[in-house]
Amino acid sequence: MTLELGVLISGRGSNLGAILDATAERRLDARVRLVVSNRADAAGLERARLAGVATAVVDHKAHPDRESFDRALVRLFCAAGVDWLVLAGFMRIVTGTLLSAFPDRVVNIHPALLPAFPGVDAQAQAIAYGVRVTGCTVHLVNEGVDTGPILAQSIEPVLPTDTRDTLAARLLPREHDLLVRALGWIADGRLTVHRAPASGARPEIELRGVDPLVR
Ligand code: GAR
Repeated sequence: MTLELGVLISGRGSNLGAILDATAERRLDARVRLVVSNRADAAGLERARLAGVATAVVDHKAHPDRESFDRALVRLFCAAGVDWLVLAGFMRIVTGTLLSAFPDRVVNIHPALLPAFPGVDAQAQAIAYGVRVTGCTVHLVNEGVDTGPILAQSIEPVLPTDTRDTLAARLLPREHDLLVRALGWIADGRLTVHRAPASGARPEIELRGVDPLVR
């Protein structure tokens, strides 16, 4: 099944670039229909344009609240024929308004082994805490901050000499690989999300025929 993707970014867009490269090289059965940034100066917008992908800027500061911002995003992505959303370095918290338009179809890449170090600058959090191992996580998005069900994780040792930037530089190619892999599993129809009848219970992730721990 070809995934019709919408991608949300806020900056550099290297994870977006990994998706675009993988689709161009047919390593990933997906089409990026629309890239939206909340910042007009996001370098990832140019990356999308170079790949011939439609882009839009929706400035969160032009909206009175998160719901109004998310309604604008939903309108754009629905009009573009998107069926899965990827948060690729998107630094805004999404609301139920967005999530209910794409139920269990919003994926995020995070540069830590969740549930450790959610939120901003997870690499700096890992260095400050002194952990010996960290990594990255691809998960489905729920209304919490980086709390949604985990699809895949990849591990990376933290070296005694590491700074925030050297660690981030080693994590980045892992992020790119993990995100493209996880999207590939979804495109292959390997993912089923089992929702318990009791609302509020954590959904269970079933991934068939793959190892969701990437070393
Ligand atoms: C990536 O490291 C991504 O994991 C992180 O922002 C960076 C974006 O880089 N996302 C978060 O921290 C989300 N909480 P990119 O724009 O080059 O893909």
